[in-house]
Amino acid sequence: MAPIKTFEKKSSRDEFYQDLLETAQSLYDPKLPFIANLSNFSALLFYAFKDNEIPVNWSGFYLRDKILNNRFILGPFQGKVACSIIPIGKGVCGTAAKNGKPEVVPDTHAYVGHITCDYASLSEIVIPIMVDGNCVMLLDIDSYEFRTFGDVDLKWLMEFGEFLKRVYLENRKVDY
Ligand code: SME
Repeated sequence: MAPIKTFEKKSSRDEFYQDLLETAQSLYDPKLPFIANLSNFSALLFYAFKDNEIPVNWSGFYLRDKILNNRFILGPFQGKVACSIIPIGKGVCGTAAKNGKPEVVPDTHAYVGHITCDYASLSEIVIPIMVDGNCVMLLDIDSYEFRTFGDVDLKWLMEFGEFLKRVYLENRKVDY
């Protein structure tokens, strides 16, 4: 695998996300276990935002608990120590999972039921990855500024979510 380039600052969010998605697709190795691919994606996301001076302090995944089906378990991430378990219907993540819809939060302090893992997180976006109507994992990105995520971020991160769904469906067959 070729070393990942530093993300030069892009002039637009569209260009930034286009490049991010293409790099994630080139990084994906279907022969590797799912968790290995997710681990690299969480680092790719975090440092791509950082290199583009997009104020992200946490990026990562929550995975559906295969035993206790009503909750999500912390998966690969970058950032400060995070909440390990999120029940469905709780917080931004749990609400996105329950409704099967993304959550874009301009101000975490104003979001009723927000689960605070890092007090520095002031805005957030969560994308649920849905398979057969069930949320199997969540992409969660936090920002240390208010109102960081808008329609362009939502559009592209949902596309990133569709890529993650393909990886999930293809890659979960790989045992390790
Ligand atoms: N804030 C999230 C919990 C996860 S942390 O952001 C990593 C929530 O309310 O669901």
